[in-house]
Amino acid sequence: MHTVLITGASRGFGRALFEVYARRGWRTFPLVRDSSVAKQLRTEAGPECHPIVGDVSSIDTEEQIARVLERQPEALDVLINNAGHIKKHRGLQNTTVEDLLELFGVHCIGAFRCTRGALPFLMRSDRAVVVNISSRWGSIGRTVLGKGGGIYSYQIAKCAQNMLTASLDQELREAGVRVMAVHPGRLKTEAAAPDADTEPQEAARALVDWIDRVDQHTAFGFYDLMGDRTLEW
Ligand SMILES: NC(=O)c1ccc[n+]([C@@H]2O[C@H](COP(=O)([O-])OP(=O)(O)OC[C@H]3O[C@@H](n4cnc5c(N)ncnc54)[C@H](OP(=O)(O)O)[C@@H]3O)[C@@H](O)[C@H]2O)c1
Repeated sequence: MHTVLITGASRGFGRALFEVYARRGWRTFPLVRDSSVAKQLRTEAGPECHPIVGDVSSIDTEEQIARVLERQPEALDVLINNAGHIKKHRGLQNTTVEDLLELFGVHCIGAFRCTRGALPFLMRSDRAVVVNISSRWGSIGRTVLGKGGGIYSYQIAKCAQNMLTASLDQELREAGVRVMAVHPGRLKTEAAAPDADTEPQEAARALVDWIDRVDQHTAFGFYDLMGDRTLEW
């Protein structure tokens, strides 16, 4: 049976991804912050759902992931580092150091922690894929072209996550673990931008199909899922 761990699976895009994988018969490991949501997911998806209760910005997360995965004899095939939120304050004067630290802690350190916790199990898979859910706002290339939104905390955090993605690819590719950055589109979730135009369920189906096609020959990149192209780093 194939296995997937999705962080931030309580709602939005993560929840939609969880539902697609559960419907397709995968064993799921949804990471959520609230234990009552964990129970609800387990009730909905049945015995092949093994929730992990944790906050990706907490120091305990790595161990919590390892503890739940250890109970399963199999490998972990897919890790989707999706958990994260946005602060929409724009401009230097409206951004605090606390905002920067908070979002860096979730989007970059959170993905770092979850990948470390899951790595021994990914190494057991013969087709392991890690997808870091990035954002168009994390692209230095777009910002240089004048398309940055001035949302310092979110943009810097996603940009740092992109460097994490590139570093992981460099270290893990030879061991057979593929690592990619994906901008999932402009999703109609609680974190939606004013130009949101895509239902999270549609993007989730597209990402699950895309991950199925990733193999050792797939070019490393920062993929724009709904635009079917790559973004500039
Ligand atoms: N929406 C878009 O257009 C868009 C575009 C580009 C990229 N993204 C990225 O896509 C990902 C999902 O966003 P979304 O639109 O689905 O947002 P969302 O609806 O606000 O959902 C965010 C999810 O992340 C979880 N989360 C937040 N902080 C967490 C933490 N510290 N530890 C564990 N879980 C945490 C939330 O859990 P709780 O329920 O516990 O709060 C929730 O499940 C994010 O990384 C976001 O940056 C979104």
